Amino acid sequence: MRKFNQQFIPNPKEKSFTLPNLPLDIEIGCGVGLHPVQYALKNSERYLVAIEHTREKFDKFLRRYVNHNSPTNLKPVHENGISWVTHLLPDESVDRFYFLYPNPNPKPSQQNKRFHAMPFMEKVISCLKPNGTIHMATNEEFYALECVEFMTKVWKLKCIKNEIYTQADGFIGRTHFERKYLERGGKAFDLIFKK
Ligand SMILES: C[S@@+](CC[C@H](N)C(=O)[O-])C[C@H]1O[C@@H](n2cnc3c(N)ncnc32)[C@H](O)[C@@H]1O
Repeated sequence: MRKFNQQFIPNPKEKSFTLPNLPLDIEIGCGVGLHPVQYALKNSERYLVAIEHTREKFDKFLRRYVNHNSPTNLKPVHENGISWVTHLLPDESVDRFYFLYPNPNPKPSQQNKRFHAMPFMEKVISCLKPNGTIHMATNEEFYALECVEFMTKVWKLKCIKNEIYTQADGFIGRTHFERKYLERGGKAFDLIFKK
């Protein structure tokens, strides 16, 4: 794996981020924001930064956030998550990262666009506190298998959860994509890795 080199990563719009006095979680690629809003409401003792770079999706997320009375423990960020994390987070500051239904980039030539196969994962792991966790979910079996391979063999993390859910299990999706795939009879591969 190529070493992560942060000088090639563009700067985010924000110049700084003050760490909250609550356990910090980061979600990258939160889409229209169903998961972050529900998560913030359920976990009032935690602080979540939820990042989405597509303007139209971020605007929907922002509307959902405002419609839920703008929870003070949730920070919606319209940004490339790679830029924001790289330049604004110190080492060992994060308890949990969430990558829920990242674009699978299924062509073999696109492997370097999958988060687990990016040098950026080195930065994600250095931002995690000891015992911090990375949560990944996908509907693609190939992606789940490859993710476990990279996270355990390349990044030396411990896989502490590797489960498959379907709608028949009574599992209600946490995100829009998860709901969509489950309704179509698909599977949710749910993975957690520990530093
Ligand atoms: C397949 S969608 C899943 C959205 C949401 N997590 C869900 O499950 O409904 C992937 C999302 O990740 C966003 N995304 C991809 N790369 C990103 C990045 N580097 N920073 C921020 N958002 C990103 C895309 O814009 C898209 O909204």
